Order: sequence, then C-alpha cells, then structure tokens
Amino acid sequence: MLQKMRISGGARLVGTIDISGSKNLTLPAMMASLLTDHPLSLSNVPRLADVVSAIELLDYLGVNSSWSGDGSLVLRCNNLKTTEAPYDFVRKMRASVLALGPLVSRFGRASVSLPGGCAIGARGIDLHIKAMQQLGAEVTIENGYINASAPNGLVGCDINFPVSSVTGTENALMAAVLARGTSRILNAAMEPEVVEFANLLNVMGANITGHGTPIITIEGVESLHGASFEIMPDRIEAGTYAIATVATNGSVLLRGCVPDHLSSFLETLKSAGGVYDPVDDGILVYRRQDEIEPVSICTAQYPGYPTDLQAQYMTLMTIANGASSITENIFENRFMHAPELCRMGANITINGRTATVIGVPELSGAQVMATDLRASVSLVIAGLIAGGETVVNRLYHLDRGYENIEGKLNNCGADMERLKA
Ligand code: EPZ
Repeated sequence: MLQKMRISGGARLVGTIDISGSKNLTLPAMMASLLTDHPLSLSNVPRLADVVSAIELLDYLGVNSSWSGDGSLVLRCNNLKTTEAPYDFVRKMRASVLALGPLVSRFGRASVSLPGGCAIGARGIDLHIKAMQQLGAEVTIENGYINASAPNGLVGCDINFPVSSVTGTENALMAAVLARGTSRILNAAMEPEVVEFANLLNVMGANITGHGTPIITIEGVESLHGASFEIMPDRIEAGTYAIATVATNGSVLLRGCVPDHLSSFLETLKSAGGVYDPVDDGILVYRRQDEIEPVSICTAQYPGYPTDLQAQYMTLMTIANGASSITENIFENRFMHAPELCRMGANITINGRTATVIGVPELSGAQVMATDLRASVSLVIAGLIAGGETVVNRLYHLDRGYENIEGKLNNCGADMERLKA
C-alpha cells in the first residue's frame, strides 16, 4: 500500500539504536538454502520487505520457510517444485538473481528472469552469466530469461571478474561449492557480507578459503548440509544512523555496529566533524564541534567508501561549512536524491558522476519523492534536520532496507509518523 512519512525537523537524536541483521547478507544466505535438502536456520534476520520477497520466491521454487520460536528463519529445500525464477519476482527484487548459482549447482538447470533496469543504474548481470559459463554451464538468453543447464554438473576453474561484483561473487561461490574440482574467483568482492556469506557456506560443509582477499579458492564437495547461522549486524543501517546522529548534532549508541566493517566510512565521518567511540557492544556517535566540515568522497568497492552510504552522506554535506564533491564510481545513476534535496534548499550541482555540494545554513521541509532505497533514507535524514515539516512519498523504497525506522528514530527523540497516502 502506498504510504508516506511525515517528519517534523529539529530534534537531536539522543539514545540507543539496536542495529538489525544485514539485509545484504540475509538475501544470499536465504538463497543458499537451495544448496541442500537439510534445514538452514538463520537468526537475527531483519524484518524487511526484501526478506518477505525472498521468502515468496523461495516458496515458489519449493523451499519451505517458517519463523521459529526464537525468531530464527528456518528454510528447507527438500521438495523443489521448479527451477524457474519468474519475472514477477525478479523485477521486484534484483537479488533474486542469486537463485541462479544454487539452482545450476545443485539441480543442473535454472531459468531466471533477467532483472531488467534499476533506478540506480543498468546493473547488468553479464558477469553472473559468464561465471556460470566458465564453470561449464550452457547458457542461452531468450524471452527475457537466462536459461542455464549443466546436466553433468559444473567443473571447477578460474572465474575471472573484470569488475568486482558483490552478488556476482556470491553466485559464483554457490555454483563452485558443488562443482567437481577446484575453482578460484579472481578479483572477488571483499565486502564483509561476502566474507560472512563464505563463512556460512563453510559452516554448511563447503571448503572455501581466501574470502576477504581478491582471490577466493573453492574445493568442490559432494553435498552441503544444514546449519544454524547468525546474521551479522547491518553496517549500512549503522552508517545511516551514524550520519543522522551527526547531522542532528545528537549522541547515539549504535548497538551491534562493528566498526571494522565501516573503517573508511567512519574515518570520513570523523573528518567531517563526527566522533565515534567504540564501546562494548557497538559505537557511540556524536558531533565533535558546532560545524560540519566539508569533506569530499569517491565511492569504491570495499574497503573504500561504500556506495550504499553515498546518498546519506550527501544530506550531511548539504549543511557543511563549505563546498565538497561526491563522486559515485559504482553506479551510473545514483544521484536521484539530489534534486529532491535541492527542493529542500540544498545547493547541489551534478556533473556526470560528480556532485558538488555547497553547504547552506539550513534545509527547509517539503514534500519529496523517494526513488530508491538509499535515496529514500537520505530524504528522511534531510527531514530530521530541516526546519518545518517534510513528507517523504513512496515509502516502499524505504521499507525494503530499514526495519522499524520510525520506531528506532522516534525512540531517540525524532518526530516521525507514517501516513496512509
Ligand atoms: C550489491 O549489489 C548490493 N546488493 C548493493 O546494495 C550494493 O550497492 C552493491 O553490491 C555495491 O556494493 C546486495 O548485496 C543484495 P555489484 P550488486 O554487482 O551485487 C556492475 C542496497 O542499497 N555489474 O557489486 O548488484 C554494476 O552495474 C543495494 O542495499 C555489471 O556490470 O552490485 C555496478 O556498476 C543497492 N555486471 C558494479 O558492477 C554484472 O554482472 C558493482 O555492482 C554485475 C555487476
């Protein structure tokens, strides 16, 4: 249902926020249930729209899922119904392409809809397809579907990624774990979600080494078994609320945040005037001084500055004490929040992949439109610091990646209310 969020600006965020489980680890972890007929139990799974979409796709494929008493999500694929992931599921959530690797790997075939375009960029999956072909799958593209088949199984090999890809690496891992022989993923993504995902596969009986470095080695095994696994905290959610805290000149304990997963981001935030003190169960974040310093960034693959924290950071820079530039190197169209921020009084000019932000004293509340997940939360942060009232429309973008955002922020003094459209 179309919903919108009313935000009255001006409050400082003060208190504690419990960071939920990582969306971008949960989604591949759920797809890994296709690799075995034993139960896979995932704890600390965030209650997000994308998780519901993944449950629906897995149910369609024949994976049973249930929420156990302790809140874990238990998935079991012991009665596969089909190896087709239809367009309707994939268009809603592009991470559905993560069904490709496990279906080819365990069942020898898959028919997965091409995801099509995405608001933030073309986001092809050519690298996913090449990885399957390098492992020996026959792949054809017809009627908008990727049809992959490997009736005699996959054969281990070197899988090269000319561009490192997070879900591309995860699909390649799921394909290689049951392949015959040894595979190496070259130019592998090193994001913490990829490292933890490889750890999950190893707990399920895989033999993966080198994850977290550019070369991951996988010794194929006969089969995988079930596992119980805890999803790590969501570093992007934590970074989002760290920015919101500094922007509102607040002081918040981000409980569960793992600073090592955010080093480049946290160092940038510190240069911009934020402070983060590691404490037993997370980090305490607040602003060091009265002003926010303009600090330029370029997004990059891990361990560089994360693209998923670019939009949020732009909001912070709109009230910095000077000019900064933000270069988006990962996606070609990830500045759609900029025009909306300008409607709130920000001074931002875009030139190709670089946005120049000239700080203004204050933003002013307005009706704004969310366009994608991280853009939507950058507008929420803008609403928190703007004078007056802001209404963010098309909230479904926000609910894909932020569990109970108004509950968490209102608990720290924000004034946010969800309205029926
Ligand atoms: C993952 O997307 C994340 N999603 C994204 O988070 C994140 O922004 C992105 O990694 C980068 O960190 C999940 O993990 C579910 P990529 P992914 O493949 O894997 C190009 C969020 O907000 N590319 O690493 O799709 C691609 O176009 C979401 O939580 C190809 O050209 O990103 C991009 O320019 C948004 N061909 C670059 O590589 C391919 O086959 C990196 O994309 C694959 C990727």
